[in-house]
Amino acid sequence: MSHTVGVYYRERVTLAVCPGSFDPITLGHLDVVRRATLLFDEVVVGVARNASKSALLDVGARVALAEAACADLPTVRVVEVPGLLVDLCRELGAVAVVKGLRGGADYDAEQPMALMNRHLSGVESVFLTADPRYAHIASSMVKDVARHGGQVDDLVPPGVADAVRRALGVTSPGAPSATTHHSATPLSAPGGDTSPGSAAHPNQGVS
Ligand code: PNS
Repeated sequence: MSHTVGVYYRERVTLAVCPGSFDPITLGHLDVVRRATLLFDEVVVGVARNASKSALLDVGARVALAEAACADLPTVRVVEVPGLLVDLCRELGAVAVVKGLRGGADYDAEQPMALMNRHLSGVESVFLTADPRYAHIASSMVKDVARHGGQVDDLVPPGVADAVRRALGVTSPGAPSATTHHSATPLSAPGGDTSPGSAAHPNQGVS
């Protein structure tokens, strides 16, 4: 006697969009994207503009960094969101928008957007509770720490910290500065003279 056990064919492929500014993508974002792949057949990372933020990295750089970070996730692709998120969701046939929540402040920020997106298009938002390992990571803090010469490499996917430092015009923590030596003695201590000084990005101070 033969049995067909546990075989279930859904009628449609489910696709979710993980939107954000990703300025830059962090390990927290990546964890949410990875967990979304366990819930949906396809996941599209949507790199968007947030009208209330001024980005450090241009959208092309943000897309490229997100693509590199998601390269080992076969069901994920990264696109720019050229306009409204709900228009992209409609175009792709997305069944949900997925975002991570680190705490109440995130919920307060996300809830009106979720309601507006559902009002505009009917798309539902699904919130994943941030993994405690990453709940302290925010793109704005990554930029702020890097700006002041702090270590951010363990907060972001490989290559991202260097891109942020390049955009900010700062050197790696502990690296000797090419421009700010004041004595003949080489600087060696971590966090030595690596101050960003006046190498300010136009968007410095805004996240
Ligand atoms: O990472 P963020 O900045 O919290 O993400 C917010 C973002 C970019 C997802 C949101 O600002 C957005 O959806 N922007 C695209 C334009 C849009 O649809 N605006 C209306 C949102 S209700």
